Amino acid sequence: MENIKRYTVTAALPYANGPVHIGHLAGVYIPADIYTRYLRLRHRDVIFVCGSDEHGVPITLKAKQRGVSPQQVVDEYHELNKKAFADFGISFDIYSRTSNKIHHETASEFFKKLHSENKFIEKTTEQYFDVEANQFLADRYITGTCPHCANESAYGDQCEKCGSSLNATDLINPKSMVSGNKPILKETTHWFLPLDKYQDFLEKWILEEHKEWKPNVYGQCKSWLDSGLQPRAVSRDLDWGVPVPIDGADGKVLYVWFDAPIGYISASKELTADWEKYWKSNDTKLVHFIGKDNIVFHCIVFPSMLKAEGSYILPDNVPSNEFLNLEGDKISTSRNWAVWLHEYLHDFVEKEDVLRYVLCANAPETKDNDFTWSDFQTRNNSELVAIFGNFVNRTMVLSWKYYEGIVQPMENLDAAEQEIFIQISKLKESIENNIENYKFREALKNLMELARLGNKYLADTEPWKLIKTNPEKVKTILNISLQLSANLAVLAEPFLPNTSKKLLQMLALEKISWDNVGGEILRAGHQLNKSELLFSQIEDAEIEKQIQRLADIKKQNEMTQSTAKPLKENVSFDDFTKLDIRVGTILEAEKVAKTKKLLKLLIDTGIDKRTVVSGIAEYYEPENIIGQQVCLIANLAPREIKGIMSQGMILMAENANGELIFASPVKNVKEGSEVK
Ligand code: 2FM
Ligand code: ZN
Repeated sequence: MENIKRYTVTAALPYANGPVHIGHLAGVYIPADIYTRYLRLRHRDVIFVCGSDEHGVPITLKAKQRGVSPQQVVDEYHELNKKAFADFGISFDIYSRTSNKIHHETASEFFKKLHSENKFIEKTTEQYFDVEANQFLADRYITGTCPHCANESAYGDQCEKCGSSLNATDLINPKSMVSGNKPILKETTHWFLPLDKYQDFLEKWILEEHKEWKPNVYGQCKSWLDSGLQPRAVSRDLDWGVPVPIDGADGKVLYVWFDAPIGYISASKELTADWEKYWKSNDTKLVHFIGKDNIVFHCIVFPSMLKAEGSYILPDNVPSNEFLNLEGDKISTSRNWAVWLHEYLHDFVEKEDVLRYVLCANAPETKDNDFTWSDFQTRNNSELVAIFGNFVNRTMVLSWKYYEGIVQPMENLDAAEQEIFIQISKLKESIENNIENYKFREALKNLMELARLGNKYLADTEPWKLIKTNPEKVKTILNISLQLSANLAVLAEPFLPNTSKKLLQMLALEKISWDNVGGEILRAGHQLNKSELLFSQIEDAEIEKQIQRLADIKKQNEMTQSTAKPLKENVSFDDFTKLDIRVGTILEAEKVAKTKKLLKLLIDTGIDKRTVVSGIAEYYEPENIIGQQVCLIANLAPREIKGIMSQGMILMAENANGELIFASPVKNVKEGSEVK
């Protein structure tokens, strides 16, 4: 794009049905924020818009689960997420929400325009309907078995296991999420955007004119286009969302993926009366930051909507990241397998920039990546503390020690010192190129190279030794180190905004322009402020606590997720009454010699005292179960086990880990009581 006059940067609107986590931050919001902060430092005209996506079935399902209204759900998460983003310095110009009036109006107008210009087709199709609940089952209101991978909990719109996009009617054994019943098919009419009509335009626009898009984005678009686009419904039978704004559409709302991207436009309108120039001028560059599950909607569906409407610009780029995993497993809200931003802030006070750093250094830019707590600790201790922090700290401490914090003149630079200034300019240029090409990991590496350069300079020149033999030279060394620190402070701003601010404050500098980077920022005679540490060590105990938290969650999940075995065949009541189950108390217990699993128990049954051999030695120590009450099948024919006659069998429950636990009365009862 030539002659860009302004930028519209959007970050995917997160659903307001749960808190945001590190995956969101790494995939979308940190890259978008680095990009926008950089543009602002370059004095470009930019708006950065985002907000909560407050419609869609996941929100109504959550409300139902909790027995509250969808509005209550979105109110809660909108505030929580807005705050978490602000805490991490994500510098949106506006964080709006799609339940706003302005959004309902904007989305309705958009739909009405397309409708009045006959850009939709109206189709009557059969869709699943829950007779008991008297409602159609859109998207996630229905589950069933995925026809591609046999996952038994695929949704009506998508299988999360294999990633296929589905129609509810593709599901095998469909089941209503509302009543659990098998749904029936019933006719309903909806509006469809005929994507097939935009196929040629999209092929030319993406496949020919946007070959520079990231390979993952381009590849996904190509694969959708190669399969041939189909008309897509833009409405649903639901009572939560933007009502379809035409007569005779009672009970129908716009599909969440129709209204959500329009949310970028509504948010811009809310931000500025001058919004149109950010959406309708060809000299505006529109960039959508998203996660990979949003590619089709931002590259195919939304551009087709914009094209159909006719007055909007199209995105210049749609930088999308892959997914971030957590300790080797897919991040999952429902399994609580995530690091939630609000929880991180609670445990790591004033360490927002550390997470920003780690998530950018390890961003899933080209492939899925893994976040581990051990990597988090290493990157903090060996990179931020040992390289960036150490360099700045040594520079500041020595400047105070020798010169009471006053910048000394810089004289007679040798070749290596002149090279430092050349390197600052080169690294600055490299950071610019990398950010403008959405390569944020590389850009961050460039920043750290600058800090490394500073450390190496101090290690090579050893001013703490030179002060005795050549104090004049030390003035120059510390001047150069301070110049490096000041340049670092400016270049770090897009990545580590809090650190940048703190460092500028220590250097007693007001906000410095990006244009000054490369040269001498501090003048001789300038008084510095007192020095503070920029970063601090993260101790093993803090990391172990996090790892333990995840281990507990994993265990919990295993317990709740293990599926029950199918039922055995029915038995008659008469057969059941043949079993004589009694409560008994263990009087004695000992291991059966030469076995791992068996305990020999002496049980008081209230009728007699008898020996029972039981396979519980792996789960209970004999001395711990004396006095334990048990339920015992007392009339099971005696059997010889390892040479011991066992007279009955005690009842045990098996937990998700295959461990046996006594199935005992919850209160002690008299021995010999019947269990019926
Ligand atoms: O995947 C999601 O979280 C969606 N709520 C993203 C919407 S992006 C945009 F279209 F609003
Ligand atoms: Zn599947």
